[in-house]
Amino acid sequence: MNEKLIVNGLSFKPFLRIDEIRKQVARVAEEIRRDYEGKNPIFLCVLNGAFIFAADLYRELGMNETQIHFVKYSSYEGVSSTGKVKQLIGLNVDIEGQDVVIIEDIVDTGLTAVKMIEDLKAKNPASIRFATLLLKEESSKTGYVPDYIAFSIPPYFVIGYGLDLDGKARNLPEIYINCDEE
Ligand code: IMP
Repeated sequence: MNEKLIVNGLSFKPFLRIDEIRKQVARVAEEIRRDYEGKNPIFLCVLNGAFIFAADLYRELGMNETQIHFVKYSSYEGVSSTGKVKQLIGLNVDIEGQDVVIIEDIVDTGLTAVKMIEDLKAKNPASIRFATLLLKEESSKTGYVPDYIAFSIPPYFVIGYGLDLDGKARNLPEIYINCDEE
């Protein structure tokens, strides 16, 4: 893993290594498999940030009879939430009466998660659960706690493994954390 990185003038240092990420992805997959034994939930990957986590988690799950679909929400500009959550790509599959598992990269204020769950509930699914790679508990403005959490992290900006800074750095295989405030 490289040492410090500069992206858009901000400094980042290594935070979560690939072997730790793989271990926690496998743990979350095990929890989901156990909870949905004998069922075929629909997985919903939240673009853009969750695409790498969802790809790894979905393959790790090995639930061959299930489907994965994609929705797109946006609330961030640069390193902070605008507080306004926009749906950019909607759902094109019927989820009425189905179990749904949302796959998200990070829950920060919780506003995106709460808005998404509210939108999906209007479509009458049998159940909705939420899996997130990262949770910034201290940043919550909603008190929302996801059902499946790979890592709880401090309230600093992170990049890599799908997470971006203004569209950059999603390609980094491991997760880096902003260290300008140290
Ligand atoms: P929330 O609505 O504030 O919970 O924010 C959720 C969205 O904000 C995530 O899906 C990310 O796109 C973005 N986000 C929040 N924190 C970070 C971060 O540390 N790095 C990159 N994106 C973030």
